[in-house]
Amino acid sequence: MTTSLSPSSAGASGRLPRIAVLATGGTIAGSAPDATNTAGYQAGVIGVAQLLAAVPGLDAIAAIHAEQVASIDSKDMSLALWSTLAQRVNALLASDDIDGVVITHGTDTLEETAYFLQLCVKSAKPCVLTAAMRPASALSADGPLNLLNAVTLAASGAAAGQGVLVAFNNRIHCARDVAKFSTYAVDAFQSPEIGALGWVQDGRVEFQRKALRPHTVDTPFAAAQVWPQVDIVVSYAGVSRVAVDALVAAGVRGLVIAGTGNGSIHGAVQTALAEAAAQGVAVVRASRVGSGHVMHNGAAKDDALGFVSAGTLSPYKARVLLLLALAAGTSGKEALQRVFDTY
Ligand code: SIN
Repeated sequence: MTTSLSPSSAGASGRLPRIAVLATGGTIAGSAPDATNTAGYQAGVIGVAQLLAAVPGLDAIAAIHAEQVASIDSKDMSLALWSTLAQRVNALLASDDIDGVVITHGTDTLEETAYFLQLCVKSAKPCVLTAAMRPASALSADGPLNLLNAVTLAASGAAAGQGVLVAFNNRIHCARDVAKFSTYAVDAFQSPEIGALGWVQDGRVEFQRKALRPHTVDTPFAAAQVWPQVDIVVSYAGVSRVAVDALVAAGVRGLVIAGTGNGSIHGAVQTALAEAAAQGVAVVRASRVGSGHVMHNGAAKDDALGFVSAGTLSPYKARVLLLLALAAGTSGKEALQRVFDTY
């Protein structure tokens, strides 16, 4: 479904920026039986036209082209929908009629979709994701302001060339760094250790720093039609090797281990993973901690065991990069480590 909002006024150039808003569902499009209900709602039931209608002043910022790409709770995000989304974003941004894209999304897997697009979007034009923690029906719903800020950011010249961005609760986050850190708080997203890139406040966009890792047009990655199986396993007290063995038996091509602390792994799982690596499964060592980095620990450990270290990527983002690298035909521990050291 597509909708267009006509601008009520034009900027100094005589033409408003033309922003495509792609809706995928989420709490931002959620509805509950009453306004104080922020837990028992259904995500992804409100259409994009209604989302846009709830944002006063949008038509003075941009000429909006809107599409309903999906209507899901983002816990159900799929690799097929990621491919569809990447193709649609790339097609829109390749058009002379569109200056930037905003994607409305659920908060639960937003950080994964954002990093996927950071690696697969092939344009320097702005691409901004936003979401909400409270459903559209709630008192003090946060969706309308987040959407207004996302469109303001996408329409600003400042967002061009900055990679895929997340506009949330007045902050601008880099897709690679951002993660959800709260189950209910409206300030749910942080970029741990590194911090936000800037903010959007009262219509003003301000960047304080840039992302340094190559992104968008400077990566070799593309959305695939057929994906290798890549899964995440976790290390914890008393864990067994059953999950790793079952995944290897199921034909998994890549495994990310969400290790304890600095990526340490319970002995039983480490042995199972080393055996998997010896059989050709790509094994990436990340941490379940939520911030900090996992350093390559050299000859005695990663090299001997056949593991790649994830650096600052969370297990969920390490899985995204491993999926894309394997889909692009990258193989071997050294080549994969270079990918992780670069992107
Ligand atoms: C979802 O991720 O779709 C539901 C939760 C949310 O958007 O906050």
